Amino acid sequence: MARRPLIAGNWKMNGLQAARGEARAVAAGSGAGAEASPADVLICPPFTLIADLARDLAGSPVETGGQTCHAAVSGAHTGDVSGEMLADAGARWVIVGHSERRALGETDADVRAKAEAGLRAGLKVIVCVGESLAERDAGEAEARVRAQVAASLPPEADPEAVVIAYEPIWAIGTGRTAETADIVAMHAVVRAEFAGLCGAEAGEHLRILYGGSVKPSNAAEILAADGVDGALVGGASLKAEDFLKIVKSAPAR
Ligand code: PGA
Repeated sequence: MARRPLIAGNWKMNGLQAARGEARAVAAGSGAGAEASPADVLICPPFTLIADLARDLAGSPVETGGQTCHAAVSGAHTGDVSGEMLADAGARWVIVGHSERRALGETDADVRAKAEAGLRAGLKVIVCVGESLAERDAGEAEARVRAQVAASLPPEADPEAVVIAYEPIWAIGTGRTAETADIVAMHAVVRAEFAGLCGAEAGEHLRILYGGSVKPSNAAEILAADGVDGALVGGASLKAEDFLKIVKSAPAR
């Protein structure tokens, strides 16, 4: 089953107005139409830049997304932003359950509620899962990731609207990537778990991204690996030149 790769940039808490130039350079380098690029391309800037980037990137193949959202539509939630607000600002996607947010106390149930909120707002959702180094060393990585998939995804998730990102926590921002064989093995675990929850056909269509120190020098090998349908890129998404190299490393499918 040919799944079109998705290369998603997560800018985290980086980017002032000047960074809009990097996003525009990504759009300019991604070709005139979606067909020109080997992958779907997404940039998730901080909240403060979403409306600007959505305007700057309109008409280009590059979409804009948020990095989290609140589960509610609106209300007394100081400092939070809802899925509807992201969509209203021009976002088409939202990342939920990133390990840096789970580390602040988000549970699987919270992540599921946020994923449902994103879908309710008409956004596509990237749900992040991944084990810690202690869990991997204890031989618990697969069980942990399976449990996260089962408890963080909305029931009967539609693979047209939901993507899973497998990001081993110990590989995020550390310069250390997982071995390709381990990535392939874990993506198969995620796909099987998803298929068990949502059906075999949904499992075939699901896009599973790898995240954790993806950079121009390792992107081609990772993106060509069996069952890898793209990447969630942190540090290397901040510079258009690096991010475009990763986009262009995606195999045409
Ligand atoms: P990194 O971050 O590419 O800087 O390791 C990935 C992520 O946290 O999504």
